[in-house]
Amino acid sequence: MNIIRDPRAMQRECEALRQAGKRIAFVPTMGYLHEGHLSLLREARRRGDVLVLSIYVNPTQFGPKEDLGRYPRDEAGDLAKAESCGVDLAFVPQNLYPEGFQTYIAVRELEQPLCGASRPGHFIGVATVVAKLFQLVRPHVALFGRKDYQQLAIIRRMVRDLDFDIEIVGMPIVREPDGLALSSRNAYLEGDERQRALCLSRGLAAARDLFAGGERDTKKLTAAARAQVEQGATRVDYVEIRDAESLAAVERVERPCVIAIAAFVGTTRLIDNDILEA
Ligand code: PAF
Repeated sequence: MNIIRDPRAMQRECEALRQAGKRIAFVPTMGYLHEGHLSLLREARRRGDVLVLSIYVNPTQFGPKEDLGRYPRDEAGDLAKAESCGVDLAFVPQNLYPEGFQTYIAVRELEQPLCGASRPGHFIGVATVVAKLFQLVRPHVALFGRKDYQQLAIIRRMVRDLDFDIEIVGMPIVREPDGLALSSRNAYLEGDERQRALCLSRGLAAARDLFAGGERDTKKLTAAARAQVEQGATRVDYVEIRDAESLAAVERVERPCVIAIAAFVGTTRLIDNDILEA
């Protein structure tokens, strides 16, 4: 596995691979890799001749009061895991923003609701860094987890709107045996918070059960989910059902919709979601 830290060297290397006719599969991450990331890497390994991983804790997607400084990091551990998944090139830049940087990408409507409402500017940071990474790696295919559902929707839209010639693959959420969705932020959970964090997946299960019984009213479905989330959360950020593609608000689930939850357990903000297939 080749480790590259310099953005220009990365661009040169990937361009040479492209010129040599190699299909580049790319998994962008912020590191602290868990089984969810590894599932992306294994699938990416199948989909490309060359597997590229990036590890970069992107400052522009963190708000001033968020956890950039304490975001978990383990470069040596990440590189060992990457190697075991067959990564060919690990891109680990120090900084991706040149002095005077002032160009940002806004996916205007999709970034408004859900996490965008409580984390202003977050998705501008995400879209911008992903666009930059795409420019450096020029992948044929890039893989993202569906746990960050809104992020995936925004990246798909950006790729379509800005004519990036890249296939975007969304991969299933990976969960612990008890249902907790894997996240690097789970490392923050202390004491009984790990158990209480199950309130998110239990909320999704409650809505899913009601939906399976024929309920289509968004208010009733979200109320059932919220009741579960409130049992464990310190604070509920949102429990919402929205159109799976446009993320528009809906009153009834009559086409594919996403039920999305964000809640604080202690000081840790967790997210989870599920698709309701009408
Ligand atoms: O999902 C993440 O880890 C990040 O948001 C991403 C896509 C790597 C951009 O920094």
